[in-house]
Amino acid sequence: MDYTNLLLFLSFVCLCICIVSSTATRLRRANLPPGPLPLPIFGNLFKLGSKPHRSLAELAKVHGPLMTLKLGSVTTVVVSSPTLAKDILQTHDQSFASRNIPEAVRALKHHELSMAWLPALTQWRNIRKMCNTQLFVMQRLEFSQALRRQKVEELLAYVDENCEHRRAVDIGQVAFSTVLNLISNTVFSADLTRLDSNYAQEFKALVRGVMEEAAKPNLADYFPILRSFDPQGIRRRMENYFRKLDDLFDGMIKKRLDSRQLEASPSCHDFLDTILDYKQDDFQLSDPDIKALLKDIFVAGTDTTSSTLEWAMTELLRNPNKMVKAQLELEEVFGKDKPIDESDIIGLPYLQAIVKETFRLHPPVPLLLPHKAVTNVNIGDFTVPQHTQVLINVWTIGRDSSIWENPSSFVPERFLNSGVDFKGRDFTLIPFGAGRRICPGLPLAFRMVYLMLASLLHAFDWKLEEGISPEDIDMEENFGLALQKAKPLKAIPIKNKVAAGNNLHIPGHTPRFVLSIFYYQYNDLSFPLIIVFVEYNEHGLIVSWSAFIQPNPNSKSSLRSRKKRLGLIMAVGSTGSSNTTRLVTFLGKGGSGKTTSAVLVAQFYANAGLKTCLVTHSQDPTVEYLMGCKIGTSPTMLLGPLNQLKQADARLKLTQGVLEGVVGEELGVLPGMDSIFAALELNQFVGFLGMTATKRNQPQSKFDIIIYDGVSNEETLRMIGMTEKARWYLKYLRNIAEKTDVGRLTAPSLLRLVDEVLRLNGTGGLRLNGKMSGEIWDDIDRILERASGSFLEPSKFGCYLMIDPNSPTSVKSALRYWGCAIQSGAQVSGAFGLTTKQSCAESAEMIHKSFSPLPSAFMPYLSTNSPIDFDAVVFREDLQHLLSTAASSGKVQSSVEFNHTKKSVTLFIPGFDKSEIKLYQYRGGSELLVEAGDQRRVIRLPSSIQGKVGGAKFTDKSLLITMR
Ligand code: HEM
Repeated sequence: MDYTNLLLFLSFVCLCICIVSSTATRLRRANLPPGPLPLPIFGNLFKLGSKPHRSLAELAKVHGPLMTLKLGSVTTVVVSSPTLAKDILQTHDQSFASRNIPEAVRALKHHELSMAWLPALTQWRNIRKMCNTQLFVMQRLEFSQALRRQKVEELLAYVDENCEHRRAVDIGQVAFSTVLNLISNTVFSADLTRLDSNYAQEFKALVRGVMEEAAKPNLADYFPILRSFDPQGIRRRMENYFRKLDDLFDGMIKKRLDSRQLEASPSCHDFLDTILDYKQDDFQLSDPDIKALLKDIFVAGTDTTSSTLEWAMTELLRNPNKMVKAQLELEEVFGKDKPIDESDIIGLPYLQAIVKETFRLHPPVPLLLPHKAVTNVNIGDFTVPQHTQVLINVWTIGRDSSIWENPSSFVPERFLNSGVDFKGRDFTLIPFGAGRRICPGLPLAFRMVYLMLASLLHAFDWKLEEGISPEDIDMEENFGLALQKAKPLKAIPIKNKVAAGNNLHIPGHTPRFVLSIFYYQYNDLSFPLIIVFVEYNEHGLIVSWSAFIQPNPNSKSSLRSRKKRLGLIMAVGSTGSSNTTRLVTFLGKGGSGKTTSAVLVAQFYANAGLKTCLVTHSQDPTVEYLMGCKIGTSPTMLLGPLNQLKQADARLKLTQGVLEGVVGEELGVLPGMDSIFAALELNQFVGFLGMTATKRNQPQSKFDIIIYDGVSNEETLRMIGMTEKARWYLKYLRNIAEKTDVGRLTAPSLLRLVDEVLRLNGTGGLRLNGKMSGEIWDDIDRILERASGSFLEPSKFGCYLMIDPNSPTSVKSALRYWGCAIQSGAQVSGAFGLTTKQSCAESAEMIHKSFSPLPSAFMPYLSTNSPIDFDAVVFREDLQHLLSTAASSGKVQSSVEFNHTKKSVTLFIPGFDKSEIKLYQYRGGSELLVEAGDQRRVIRLPSSIQGKVGGAKFTDKSLLITMR
C-alpha cells in the first residue's frame, strides 16, 4: 500500500469513528432508550436478519424492553414488554397513533386513502368510525353468517374428497382460499369466483403479491434519498397489483350499482351496500376511497386469518391429546353431526384457549404495523422523539418467561381459568394490537378462525403424512406481512374419527356406537386402539368398552421397546407359559386413581413391547384425556353366550323355541347376570376357562396383558369369585342330575347343550363321546377350578390396591378390598400410593407399614388440565419394579394356614375386624364358611383339624380360629 492509499484508508477509518461516536453522542443527548451501537450509514440494519422479530427479541435481552435502533436513517424504538406496550398503545395512544409509511404502500398513493396508513386525523377517524359502527358490528356479521357457513361447508366437502382418496391437504392453502371467499361473501355476498378457477388463482396471486412486496425489506424505507429510484422495483410491482385489484373492485361496484337500478333487485345488506350508502354528517366515501378500503380489508384479512388457522392445526397435530380435548368439547356441544354455528363459540372454552395459545406463540403480525411518534414523548426515563418509528414486539411478549410458564410449549390450558383475552385489554396478549389502531377486523377474524378450526376438527380426525411424526413438523417461520409457516402443513383428514374399513356392523341392529380402530400416537409409538361402550340399547343388548393397545412394531422406538420387552416378558412369563395372558386389575376407593392407573399401566406394558388390551367400563372421559385420543365407541354383544345357547338350542330343538323368546334385557334383570356375561366376555380374551381367545373382528386374538378397569370394586370382586361360586352351583346341579328322576331325565340333553355352546365358543366342546356323565361333570368342575385357581397365580392375575395416602378412608378402603380380594379367591400383587409429589417419605412409610408384606410404589397424581409427561410416570423405577416383579414372583403367600398340633386355622383377612366376620360350619365340621363383607368363602378343613369352632380372635390382619 503506498503512502497516499494509507492516508486515504486512515482518513476513512477516522471518518467512521467520528460518525459512530457523533451518532452515539447524539442518541445519548437525545435521551433515547439504549440500543446497540449503530454502524455508519447502515446503522443497525444488519442486525435485523431475515426474522426481525427474533433478532429484536435477542437484542432486547441485552438492551432492555425499550430499545433504540438506527435502521439506515430511520430511528426506531422497539418495545418488548406488556407494561411499555400499554404506555405506547394506551397511555400515550394519541401520540403514537400515526404510522411510519413503508415505501411499498405509497404505490398509486394508496397511503393517502388507506385506513391502515392514514395518519390518525379526520379522514382516518371517519373511515374507522364507519368500520366500527357499521361494518364489523354484530348485526352486520350475523347477517352474513349463513354465507360464511356455506363457504365452510364447501371447505369440508373439499376436505372430504381428499379424505376419500386419503390425500393430504395443504392446510395453509385451503385456509387461504376459504378465508378469501369468507371475506368476499361478507363484503360482496358472493364468491369472487369459484375457488378452483383460474380467476380465483389470479386474485389470490394478486393479494399474495401485495403482501409479499409490502413485507420485503426495502432499501428505500431506510434511505429515503433512494425513494425516487425505487431500487428494488417494489413500488412498480405494487402499482401493477393495485391497478389490477382496483379493476376487479370497479367491476364489483359497477355490478352492484347496476343491480340497484333494477327495482326488483333485493338489497344485500352486506359490507358493499353499507359502504355505498354510508353518509355521516358531511362524510361520504369517494370511489377511490372505497377501493382503497376494499384493498385494506382483503390484504389485511386473508393471510393473517389463514396463517392463524395453519398454526393452530400445526400445534394440534404436534399435540394430539389437545386435539382430542377440543374434539371432545365440540362433540359435547354439537353432538356428532350438527354443523358448527358461529354463535356457539361462546360455549367452547377449550377451543377458545387453543386460539389464544396460537396467537400467543404465533402472532400473525409479530411487530404490529409500524407506529410513529407525532410528538416527543417521555416513556420512563427516556424520550421517544417526534417522527420515531415504534415497533411493538408482540412475539417477544408472548414468549416472555417472566409472564408465561414454559413459554415455548403449547399449553391452551393456561388460558382456561385466566380471563386473559386478545381484544386489546390484556397487554400480555395483543395479536390485534390495542388502542385506537387496534385491528378493526377483529370481530370478523375471530368468527372466521373459530368457524374454520371448529369445523375441521369436528368433522375430521387429522394425521400427519406417512413417515412424519409430530416432532418432525417443521416449525420454521417466514417473516412477511403475516408470520407464516415456512413449510406448508400437510395433513391427512380421517372421516368421522374412524379409520375406514374398521367399522363393526351388527346385522339387524342400528348400533348407537360404532367400533373404531385408529392409531393413537404417543411419543414415537403408535397404538391401535379399540373401544367398546357399556350400554343397553333399544334391543336389550348389553354393550361394553374395551380398548386394545399394542405398540406399532414398525415404530422407531422398537429398539427401545424390545430392550424393555426382554426384561418384561421374562418377568411376566417366568412362572407361567409364554402363552399366558395376564389379567391386571385395580381395587380402591373412588377417586384413588383406578382408571388413571389402568391407563398408565397399560401404557407401561405396551411401551415394553407387550400386546396389551385395556378394558374399561368407565364412561367418564378420563381415559380419553389420558390417552390423548378420541376413543371411538362400538357395541359388542355381551350376550354372545346367550345367543350361542339359543343357536345350540335351535339345532338340538331342546326347549322348542322357549329359549329363543328370552331377550337380553330380561336376563340383565337377574342378579349377577351382567357380571357373569361380562366375565364370560372377558374370558374370551383371557382364556381363563381353558378356551382360546375367539373374538372375531378384532385385530388380534391373543394379548400378553389385559388391563381391566371394572365398573366398580364390587363388580370386579364378584367377577373374580364367579368361577368358585359356579363350582358350588355345579355341585348342586350335579346332585339334582344324579339323584333326582327329573335330573336323570334331562341331564343328558343339558350336557349336550353345554357341549354345543362350548363348541360354538371354539373350545372343542366337552368331548362327550364315550364319556360317562360323572366324567363330564368332573371335566366341567376342573375347568372351573382351573379358572378360579388362575386368580392365585401372579403370572395370570395381578391385582393392585390404589391408595390416596392423604385420605384415611382411602387407606381403610384399600385394606378392606385387600381382604375382599382374598375372600373372593384372589391374591393381591401390590399397593400403589397416589401422590401429588414425586416422593413423600411419610406416605411411603405409612403405606409400607399398613400394607406390609405387599410391595408398594407411588403413582403420581395426574391432572387432566396440564400436560402429562408419560415418560416421567410410566418409566419410574419403583413403578416398573413393582409391575414386573409382582408378575414374576412365583410364590403366593397362602391366606389360610392350618396348625395341626394346635388344631387351629389362621385366616389372613386384612381390613376386617372380628365383629364383621361370620363363621358357619357345614357337613359335620369338614367345611367352614367364612362370610366377610358381601363375600363368602368355603374352607375345607383337613381331617386332623375338623371339629367344632371353639373360639376366634383377631391379631394384626389375621383371624385365628381354634377348633375343638
Ligand atoms: C387473525 C387475523 C388478524 C390479525 C391477527 C390482525 C392483526 C392486525 C394488527 C396487529 C393490526 C395493526 C394494529 C396496530 O398497528 O396497532 C391490524 C390492523 C388492521 N387490520 Fe387486522 N388482523 C387480522 C384480521 C383482519 C381482518 C379479517 C381484517 C378485515 C376484514 C383486518 C383489517 C385490518 C385493518 C384495516 C387494519 C388497519 C387498521 C388501522 O391502521 O387503523 N384485519 N390487524
